Amino acid sequence: MLIPAKGVTLKSGKEVILKSPKPDDAQALLNHLKNVFNQSYQNMNHPKNNWENFPVEEEAKILTDFASSPSKFMISAFDGERIVGNLGCFGMGGEFLKFNARIGMGLDYDFHNVGLGTELLNYAIQKAKENKIHRLELTVRTFNEPGIALYEKTGFRRVGILKETAFIDEKFCDEYMYEMLIGQ
Ligand SMILES: CC(C)(COP(=O)(O)OP(=O)(O)OC[C@H]1O[C@@H](n2cnc3c(N)ncnc32)[C@H](O)[C@@H]1OP(=O)(O)O)[C@@H](O)C(=O)NCCC(=O)NCCS
Repeated sequence: MLIPAKGVTLKSGKEVILKSPKPDDAQALLNHLKNVFNQSYQNMNHPKNNWENFPVEEEAKILTDFASSPSKFMISAFDGERIVGNLGCFGMGGEFLKFNARIGMGLDYDFHNVGLGTELLNYAIQKAKENKIHRLELTVRTFNEPGIALYEKTGFRRVGILKETAFIDEKFCDEYMYEMLIGQ
């Protein structure tokens, strides 16, 4: 599914465009993913170097697949040609679970704390709603204060704690599970 462009002004005064990345944006998206994983890998699900040698052609195929899928979308934040933030919304498989989706997101470090997380997430919630998603869920590590603040601010409810789910830098870490009912 492709999400149309929306311009937003951040607290810094900078304007960015939120929209789905297309296959032509594969290199810009990979550059962004390399940044986020380098800067914030403890908050993500793969190590720092996960995207280092990822072929741009493979990323373009992933974006082609997203564009034609009825059950998932990506929204990137574009500062000109550069992608500075990205969010994925993944519908769950299975007939009985088809109204659920899971969210994952990240921003380049120089775009933290200027309202971009809020804009990106609120736009995704609006688009998920328009596409008949009834329930959103996500997990966040218990040490990720900016993430927790963002999810609570946008209306997600903490459901509980998942113990020792991630193994990072030789230590097990806990995660909180959050959900939001958005359905009509
Ligand atoms: C998590 C993340 C997306 C949050 O984005 P952000 O830039 O903080 O988003 P916003 O600027 O919209 O801030 C949201 C709110 O959190 C608050 N906040 C930010 N950092 C905070 C902190 N350390 N403690 C408490 N509140 C914090 C902000 O003040 C803001 O509230 P306000 O609008 O009432 O002032 C961003 O930090 C990020 O990309 N981190 C790296 C990757 C990551 O952690 N992804 C999520 C994995 S679950």
